[in-house]
Amino acid sequence: MAQAALKRSAAEAALAYIEPRLGPKTVVGVGTGSTADCFIDALAAVKHKFDAAVSSSEASAERLRGQGVAVIDLNAAPSVAVYVDGADEVDPGRCLTKGGGGALTREKIVAASADEFVCIVDDSKLVARLGSFPLPVEVVPMARGLVARALVGLGGEPEWRQGFTTDNGNLILDVHGLDIADPPALEREINNIVGVVCNGLFAANRADLVLVAGTDGVRQL
Ligand code: A5P
Repeated sequence: MAQAALKRSAAEAALAYIEPRLGPKTVVGVGTGSTADCFIDALAAVKHKFDAAVSSSEASAERLRGQGVAVIDLNAAPSVAVYVDGADEVDPGRCLTKGGGGALTREKIVAASADEFVCIVDDSKLVARLGSFPLPVEVVPMARGLVARALVGLGGEPEWRQGFTTDNGNLILDVHGLDIADPPALEREINNIVGVVCNGLFAANRADLVLVAGTDGVRQL
């Protein structure tokens, strides 16, 4: 099965998982990326069953509105029942690398706000250990050099994502070659570098459930 079809399968499995939890006051958190786009398209079919969505990016907000789903500001949401999003890498402990699309900061904020984080991936995203996918780090522009030098000190090779600005007006350094033996420790260490807004390791806010689509169906991790 082609990767696009697997992404749709994972998205449909997420919809089946959350649908019984929806009610007139439910707010659904929605991620960013091609797999999250499949989820948005699936979610449109049940838009009458929940109150509104909170989005992790301007792009997803636009797609949600295009599908007729109400989008509200996170600060207006009394609670977020569930957050559904893709990932770039998933390890066996459900720690994730995210941010290939550059939306990592808002993704982590919505994930942290949600009662449950459901991650949807095709099976190409499963890894024994995080680190093959370069780790995205969102950085305040004036701190780019300072942060890059600190990341080199951690053993990484940061690469400035050219021509890209996040929804928050910042830049992204994609860090190659990091040894991610301890995702929670590295997540904390990178967050402590002055000038870092957020990094793409989701360990403190790892997925509660991962729905993995493969050629033989969707399994839970
Ligand atoms: C967006 O910033 C990312 O965190 C995405 O969730 C991640 O890159 C997965 O994207 P795809 O579903 O397009 O592979």
